[in-house]
Amino acid sequence: MIDSFGREIVNLRISVTDRCNLRCSYCLPEETMTWLPRSEVLTFEEIERFVRVVAPLGIRKLRLTGGEPLLRRGLPDLVARLVQVPGIEDLGMTTNAVGLDRLAGPLRAAGLSRLNVSLDAVDREKYREMTRRDALESVLAGLDAAGHAGFAPIKVNAVIERDRNLDQVVPLARLAREHGFVLRFIEYMPIGRGDAWRDERVVANAEILRLLTAEVGVLDPVGEPDGAGPAQRWRWRDGAGEIGLIGSVTEPFCDHCNRIRLTAEGKLRTCLFSVVEHDVRALLRGGAGDAEIAELVTAAVAKKEPGHRIGRPDFVKPDRTMSSIGG
Ligand code: 5AD
Ligand code: SF4
Repeated sequence: MIDSFGREIVNLRISVTDRCNLRCSYCLPEETMTWLPRSEVLTFEEIERFVRVVAPLGIRKLRLTGGEPLLRRGLPDLVARLVQVPGIEDLGMTTNAVGLDRLAGPLRAAGLSRLNVSLDAVDREKYREMTRRDALESVLAGLDAAGHAGFAPIKVNAVIERDRNLDQVVPLARLAREHGFVLRFIEYMPIGRGDAWRDERVVANAEILRLLTAEVGVLDPVGEPDGAGPAQRWRWRDGAGEIGLIGSVTEPFCDHCNRIRLTAEGKLRTCLFSVVEHDVRALLRGGAGDAEIAELVTAAVAKKEPGHRIGRPDFVKPDRTMSSIGG
């Protein structure tokens, strides 16, 4: 599938639930959330059918997201189903790792190949402030279990909000070096919770790089791009691993975007910032044939947006929290 800007779409992110057990400040509001009723969420059968339809169109890589994907009951069964689909080469998951200590083994055994863990602070109080839940211990236990289950490398994703956790950049880097995690900084984007995003609260990649170089050690650029995504790669000169910088705001990678997204309730989105969605669930539940579903996908991809407009006067924020889009 090639879109109208020549980008080949190979990557599908599947949100398996809109629920989350954390309330990260940049993602969800603090108030009680109303989640989707279970009947509106795609079943494993429906997700698998969709993947069987899009794999022949060129989708090779899948990533499970949420909300928090570990909250979806029976997740290893879904993994086992999806890795069997012909054409699927790679299945990853983005998780907050709360409760991963129990699930890392079963997920690995089911065929999950990559793991990205969201972690924005290593200080327990700061973690509680960022996520509004006192869950750091469970996350660290989850990371530990993931290592034992054989996930390698484990990627840790951090979002920095200037006035909240800028002081965690260096401790996060130290933790990652100690445990062999690939730490990636994702620039804070205006999506999700209300209107707290402001340009001044974004910490640009360049600033993170300066901070790490000054406080932790020398970093050298890694020539090859990360086949798995948009991160700019840097390696510690002393050999203690790798850093990724994802410049979503200051260095957008939309020109090379190869993704589409399926929300928990079966809406297809061709951009994180899409303001239109395509109703896959209506087809899945309305007796449509595979060809009709494939047509909806190729038509949607043909209209994939050129990129986001963050920081421009015509920027429109999508009417969804990040948790209901799936990161
Ligand atoms: N800006 C940047 N990244 C975000 N994520 C969630 N909300 C935002 C935001 N506003 C990222 C989290 C997590 C993934 C699910 O999405 O860091 O890794
Ligand atoms: Fe949950 Fe992930 Fe959103 Fe944090 S970023 S609230 S872990 S969905």
